[in-house]
Amino acid sequence: MTTLERAEAAEHAMSQELDRVVVKSVIYTSGERDPRVPAPRPPDSGKLYMMGQDPRLPQMPARPTLMDFFKYRFGPANHLLQSARLARKNGLSEEIILACLLHDTGQYLCYADHGYWGAQIVEPYVSERVAFAIRYHQALRFYPDQSVGYSYPEGYLLMFGTDYVPLPHVQAAYTYARNHKWYMDARMVTTNDLYSFDPNVQVDIDEFTDVIGRHFKQPKEGLGNDNTPVSHMWRSMVVPDAPL
Ligand SMILES: [Fe+2]
Ligand SMILES: [Fe+2]
Repeated sequence: MTTLERAEAAEHAMSQELDRVVVKSVIYTSGERDPRVPAPRPPDSGKLYMMGQDPRLPQMPARPTLMDFFKYRFGPANHLLQSARLARKNGLSEEIILACLLHDTGQYLCYADHGYWGAQIVEPYVSERVAFAIRYHQALRFYPDQSVGYSYPEGYLLMFGTDYVPLPHVQAAYTYARNHKWYMDARMVTTNDLYSFDPNVQVDIDEFTDVIGRHFKQPKEGLGNDNTPVSHMWRSMVVPDAPL
């Protein structure tokens, strides 16, 4: 069995135990299969499809806050928490600390272009500068800036190969951000983007209650229930495998 087959078999066994059938979103399976071919449907088991709360995931409160997403969906969030702590230790502004705390949250939705996803999901709730820093950290990570001691990440050499050249849209985003008045905000995210975080250091999200309270406009209805252009994205993180 290949790794994928083993994972699918385990998942099938798990879904047999659930009352309802789980269908994975196309975005999770495209690439493992030709997206033009209809996705395999679960065998007709007489069960209903899983809608609403996913029993495999921790239950979210009815009005989820950003803290709730950190507690129940963004784990393990050590990378984000340690980056934010480093930014604070380095004396950066609260907005940059928040940008560091949120910089990779887009990856809980989609790996590709995570800077853009990440900036978009928080855009209605943070300042433009914070969203800018999150969006452009993705491109800036590929480009050194010796003026602030930022080198090309060694990890990227290992992960992407020594001859990897960023895609054209990443090159264009870098040029745009490099000439922008908020360039340093995005750059500061990259200098505090701890690549190899210490697994023994545990940082609690409560350490950033003050920063979140001052710079993240938490909607009283809860993230996902507030009818903004990105509410559906938060709802999708609450129930990532809802079939509709
Ligand atoms: Fe990132
Ligand atoms: Fe990161």
